[in-house]
Amino acid sequence: MRNPSFTIDTPLAGQAVGLSGFASDLLAGLSRRPRSISPKYFYDVAGSALFDRICELPEYYPTRTELRILTDRAGEIAHHIGPGAEIVEFGAGSLTKVRLLIDALHAPQRYLPIDISGEHLEGAAARLRADCPGLVVQPIVADYTQPFALPAVAAGGRRVGFFPGSTLGNFNPDEALAFLQGAARMLDGGGLLIGVDLIKDPALLHAAYNDAQGVTAAFNLNLLQRANAELDADFVPDRFSHAAFYNAPMQRIEMHLVSRRAQAVHVQGQRFMFAEGETIHTENSHKFSIDGLRTLAVKAGFGIGPVWTDPERLFSVHWLPVTAAQ
Ligand code: AVJ
Repeated sequence: MRNPSFTIDTPLAGQAVGLSGFASDLLAGLSRRPRSISPKYFYDVAGSALFDRICELPEYYPTRTELRILTDRAGEIAHHIGPGAEIVEFGAGSLTKVRLLIDALHAPQRYLPIDISGEHLEGAAARLRADCPGLVVQPIVADYTQPFALPAVAAGGRRVGFFPGSTLGNFNPDEALAFLQGAARMLDGGGLLIGVDLIKDPALLHAAYNDAQGVTAAFNLNLLQRANAELDADFVPDRFSHAAFYNAPMQRIEMHLVSRRAQAVHVQGQRFMFAEGETIHTENSHKFSIDGLRTLAVKAGFGIGPVWTDPERLFSVHWLPVTAAQ
């Protein structure tokens, strides 16, 4: 066993981590220039519901395209993954995508969904257990961007990571490399199935993050409401507007909240002044070329496996085997 630290055998209770992290991260983020906050704080109950609506929008192609790839290629993907998989999902949401995988895999042994939100996870896990009686479902409440413990691999099991949804794109390139290096160590002897959004016509990207119904704007602005509810902040959401644009040289969509006027805001008793037009940078969503993702994966210690895309090459799903010892 290469990772003696990953031996805890019970679900971890990390609930408070998210909240106190939000307070200190928001205070720090409002204190630096340019101002920024991690997109992981979008996903409170309201934010998760808004994200589910984003996934249904006509302009937001990633979710339905990835689901189509996973559905159409499930047999091939299962063949590459092989039998006895212990699936570790980083940031498990509604578990829709992993069901496609579980249904196609040969004798999957165990499913370990990792998510920061405990309630969401337990409910989804219970439904999955009911539908897949042979499968051990063991949720882990943790922030997977921080070090966390995993139970030891069961005898005969092979650890297979699942990281769909282009969530990797939320990391900057250094963080993405660090995440993939950690994953390669954790998945030694197995591999990672990862979905990433591809570089494409900026007009399509722009539309996907500036939908006509304003759901993405509401999702972005919900961060301010979350701060008001959880951190005793006094943001007036109407005094900020949603901005999302494709930064072509950086190959990423950037989302910001733009102060519509000069104003003061308080968070946990601290006062922050905003100039008119000043922004809080709330998200980066990096887009990849197939070669770019593979280069990053190889740097992190993965081998190169097959990649599956849709006919329009909007989205990609990669199987990255961990072969060499780390
Ligand atoms: C969940 C990070 C992949 O970047 O497309 C959707 C989040 N932000 N609309 C993305 C998101 C605005 C999404 N990821």
